[in-house]
Parts: sequence; C-alpha cells; structure tokens
Amino acid sequence: MDSQVMPREQLGVCAEGNLHSVYLMFNANDNVESDMRPCVATIAQYIHELTDQYSDSAFNGFVAIGANYWDTLYPNARPELLKPFPAMNRDNRDAPAIEFDLFVQIRCDRFDILHLVANEVCQMFEGLVELVDEERGFRFLDSRDLTGFVDGTENPKGRSRQEVALVGDEDSKFKGGSYIHVQKFTHNLSKWNRLPVKKQEDIIGRTKADNIEYASADKPLTSHIKRVNLKDSEGKSMEILRQSMPYGSVKEQGLMFISTCRNSVHFEKMLESMIHGDAEGNHDHLMHFTQALTGSSFFAPSLDFMHSAI
Ligand code: HEM
Repeated sequence: MDSQVMPREQLGVCAEGNLHSVYLMFNANDNVESDMRPCVATIAQYIHELTDQYSDSAFNGFVAIGANYWDTLYPNARPELLKPFPAMNRDNRDAPAIEFDLFVQIRCDRFDILHLVANEVCQMFEGLVELVDEERGFRFLDSRDLTGFVDGTENPKGRSRQEVALVGDEDSKFKGGSYIHVQKFTHNLSKWNRLPVKKQEDIIGRTKADNIEYASADKPLTSHIKRVNLKDSEGKSMEILRQSMPYGSVKEQGLMFISTCRNSVHFEKMLESMIHGDAEGNHDHLMHFTQALTGSSFFAPSLDFMHSAI
C-alpha cells in the first residue's frame, strides 16, 4: 500500500500481542456530539503518542465508535459495511447483541501504565459519557485461552495483518479504519476440565500441549477451527485478525474475543458457522462450554478521519 495515500491507522488495531489489556465500554450522554467529536480525536491522538512514549513496553490502543451511535456522532458519512452486531441463537447457543456507543481498548506490557492511561481517558471523557463496562485482560501462560489451548496461532502475520484488518480503496473515505466485533465469553471451566484432553482437542481441532493442527481428514466437522475456516465464493480464505485475551477473576472468567477486519462480513459468516453450523447441523461444540455475554459492533476510524470530522 502506498504510504503517501494511506491515512494513519490507530496502531492498536493491528498491534502484536501484549501482556495486559484494559477494555472500556461507554455510552454517550445526549446532545454532546459537538464536544464528543474533538474529544474522541484527542483521545485517539493521545493513545497514538503514548505508543511512542511507552514503546519499550509495547503500549498500543484504539478508540472505536458503536454501530448504533455512528450516525449520531458522524451524520455525514458512514462506513459502507457498518451494521449492528449480528445477534443469533440456535438451541442453547446464544450470541446476543449488547451494543455500546464507544469502545476504548488499551494494551501494554506494564499494567501500571494501563491503569494510569485508563484513568486519564475517563477523565478526558468527563461529562460526555457513562462508563458501562470495564474488563482487564491478561496473557495466560504461553498465550493460551483459559481452556488451556494456545489462541492466535493462525492469525495473519507481518504486513498481512494490515491487509486483513484495514479498509483499503474499496471505501476510500474510511481507508485505514477497521470493523471491530467484541464478544465477552464466560467459560464453564469446571465442565470443560472434566473432559478428557483428547475430547478437548477434538473440539478445538488442534493438540493441547504442543498446539499442532489436526490433519484435515481428522478434523471433526464440529471442531472450532473447522467451523471458522471459511472460503468465499472465489475460493479465497475469509480472514479476520483476532486480538482476543483472557479476562476475569475466579468468579467469572473467559475470553474477550475481539475481531478486527477490513469488512464486517467475515466475522458474521464465521459466527453463523459456529452457532447455526453447516447444512447438516454441524455446529461448533466449543459453544457447549462457553457463553457469550455481550456482542458489540464498532468501527475504529483512521486518526485522519477523526481529525477531519471534528
Ligand atoms: C482459532 C479459541 C471464538 C475465529 C482458534 C484457536 C483457538 C480458539 C484455541 C486455535 C488456535 C489459533 O489459530 O488461534 C477460541 C475461543 C473462543 C473463540 C476460546 C470463544 C470462547 C471465536 C469466534 C470466532 C473465532 C467467535 C469468529 C467468529 C477463529 C479463527 C481461528 C480461530 C478465524 C483460526 C482458524 C484457522 O485458520 O485455523 N480459536 N475462539 N473464534 N478462531 Fe477462535
């Protein structure tokens, strides 16, 4: 991509993994849009500058605008594919929509910096928003989900992270932005941990200890990676960039699942394949052990869009 014409992306969208994260979900007060536009641009810029200041601890983050709030904040232009969260339900498998107006994700390898910046961000928003939800994520062992399986292995690498996650010329006004989907999953770990390891591995489609992908013929149709490995009508892989991290405490714990993508279609198709399954009803058996508590859809615009739309 030509950097001359590439608006500056928010660096947290494509960043590599971190040790810690803070997720802040806000709803906006009524009639504050003219103050909110400069405020979100300033917060995104502040996060961008901290990325340099705290580069030795890999600080990064982004600000994203909720699908249902977008038109209120930016009535003049909307990303082409921005839609509310695609809520779905089948039998006991539920993917509810719980939307928020604004989402701030910050991540860093130092927790004290995150705590400081989270407080700063809330201070900057003062009078404009209500903080509705807050979670703190952490790296678990060698980047494992709390099920014990390594998470993120098949994520796009290097420059293809940008290719997958950032809007390009197809929607030039929103170039450098990203469609973000968030689901807070709470795991039923006592049920999961009662399963023999081989059964767990069949559900994921990879081995547990050494994280080796099953041979294609051995992958059950109900395994997670079989369900989310999709191709479009031209046979091209449908990809997303996952920025998920474990979160929680002993009382409630699971995965903050976060997808960033240059469109909103890939995530929706994957979720459909997990919850509804294929024509024969093969759904994702991982869903028997975890429950989505939220489901929210956002767009994280480029820094240049936010500044130009003040
Ligand atoms: C792969 C865990 C939800 C999309 C994986 C892997 C694990 C995992 C362990 C294998 C390692 C890897 O390549 O990262 C989980 C857990 C979830 C969850 C614990 C929720 C509780 C989702 C959702 C989606 C999704 C909601 C999309 C709608 C993917 C994709 C891959 C993957 C695209 C890579 C598949 C491949 O190319 O092999 N996940 N996942 N996951 N997951 Fe999930």
